[in-house]
Formats: sequence, C-alpha cells, structure tokens
Amino acid sequence: MKISLMAVLVGFAISAGSTFALAAGGDAKAGKEKSALCQGCHGEKGVSADPTFPNLAGQFAGYIEKQVTDFQQAKRENETMSPMAATVTSKQDLKDIAAYFAAQKPVKGKGSSGSKAAAGKKIYMKGNPKTGVYGCKNCHGDTGKGRSANNPLFPVISGQHKAYTIAQLTNMKTGKRSNDPAGMMSNIAKLLSTQEIEAVAEYVSGL
Ligand code: HEC
Ligand code: HEC
Repeated sequence: MKISLMAVLVGFAISAGSTFALAAGGDAKAGKEKSALCQGCHGEKGVSADPTFPNLAGQFAGYIEKQVTDFQQAKRENETMSPMAATVTSKQDLKDIAAYFAAQKPVKGKGSSGSKAAAGKKIYMKGNPKTGVYGCKNCHGDTGKGRSANNPLFPVISGQHKAYTIAQLTNMKTGKRSNDPAGMMSNIAKLLSTQEIEAVAEYVSGL
C-alpha cells in the first residue's frame, strides 16, 4: 500500500517536473568568476577535495539553485554553508553560478565491491519491501544521474562523497534536514537503518 501510494506520488512529480523546474537562464561563463568563493570548498571544477563538501559538478542547475535558496531561507541549515549562501544576493548571480557547476564534468565513481556495496545495490534497485523503503532508482534513476535537467527535483547522487551522502541521509532520518518536497526523501530516510544508510552510500559513491 505504502509503495503503491509512493509510486503515484513519484509519477506525479515526474510528469509535473517541468513545473518544478526553476527557470533556466544562467550563464556558465559568467558563473565561473562569480563562483570563485564557492570553488574554495567545492573545487574549481565542482569536484571537492574534502568528503564533507559535496561535489557539485554535473548537478542540475535547478537543484543547486533550490538548495542555495533553501539555505538562504533557513529551510536547510549548515554552519559552514548557510553563511556562504547568504553572500549570493543576486538571483542572476545564483543562476550563473548554478549553470557553471552544472556544466562541469560529473564525477564518475570507481565502482564498488564487497558485501556492503552488494547490500547497498539491493536497496538502491529494490528498496526494502519489509520496511517499506522504496528503491532509490525509482527517483534517482538507474545509475544515480537523476532524471533530466528539466526535472531537477530529483538530484544526481552518483559519484558523490560517501561521507556527504551518509550525513544527508542521517540528517533526513533525524529531521535535521527537512527541505525535501512533500517529505518525499525524508520519509524514506526515516525507514533506513544506520547499516542500510552506510551500505547504500557505499554503492552510490561508486556509481
Ligand atoms: C567554506 C566551505 C564552503 C564554501 C565556500 C561554499 N560551500 Fe557550499 N557547502 C559546504 C558544505 C559543508 C555543504 C554541505 C552542507 C550540509 O551538510 O548540509 C555545502 C553544500 C552546498 C550545496 C548543496 C549540495 C547538495 O548536493 O545538496 C550547494 C548547492 C552549495 N553548497 C553551493 C555553494 C555555492 C553556490 C557556494 C558559493 C556561493 C558555496 N556552496 C560555497 C561548504 C561550502
Ligand atoms: C520518492 C522519490 C525518492 C526516492 C525513492 C529516493 N529519493 Fe533521494 N531524494 C528525493 C528528492 C526529491 C530529493 C531532493 C530533496 C531536496 O530537494 O532537498 C532527494 C535527495 C536525496 C539526497 C540528497 C542529495 C544531495 O546532494 O543533497 C540523497 C543522498 C538521496 N536522495 C539518496 C537517496 C537514496 C539512497 C535513496 C534510496 C534509499 C533515495 N534517495 C530514494 C527523492 C527520492
């Protein structure tokens, strides 16, 4: 029951994707200079050296815009990132910066092996029918690349730092992060065990 309801919700969100998409119109070239501060932590090309700073390379521009706006409006909070988001005071600057990172080459994971990654793959593909966890691939795509730039509701999660993914899933499980639309993601994170979070993060980082 829970799963079929979720399928309806996802079907709706996917078909309505373009409605959710923030208007395009960013200039990646202009964004290169405007993102100098951001590059300090997220990397010159959106690939960060510190695993607690997320990679932004190849992330949908609309998703980057949404997250920065959420930090600005305190819908999502982080002591390091919130003050950085506050420095972006122009909407056009934000669009340009988002376009810059979106245009960078996405990180390709190195694959994963071992029993933990295998358990993670199972969750990714099929979820956990016993606890009502819906498979990640239904929203984040077969290989973690999300859906499309026109539907940035579902972010790219492939090749992301494992530590960052664990932190986000844990924050959504505990309610520290709750900026996801309609609780779509946190309702799933709440059903994941700590072991499942580690396993799925291991698998996703290798994609
Ligand atoms: C001092 C380091 C630092 C700087 C500089 C910085 N960030 Fe961040 N950023 C972070 C951290 C840490 C997080 C993770 C926050 C969390 O765990 O919720 C983050 C998260 C993000 C996210 C969320 C990504 C996702 O996948 O959900 C976006 C988007 C982002 N930053 C954009 C920017 C932009 C744009 C700038 C420049 C205006 C910037 N950041 C500057 C440290 C930084
Ligand atoms: C019903 C659709 C749906 C399913 C299923 C789903 N997600 Fe998500 N996920 C989302 C949405 C929507 C967001 C964006 C939240 C936001 O806008 O802040 C998200 C965000 C995330 C993020 C944060 C990305 C970032 O860069 O900040 C991670 C990590 C994530 N999902 C992992 C997973 C994993 C692992 C699974 C499977 C256990 C999963 N998701 C299943 C919809 C889903």
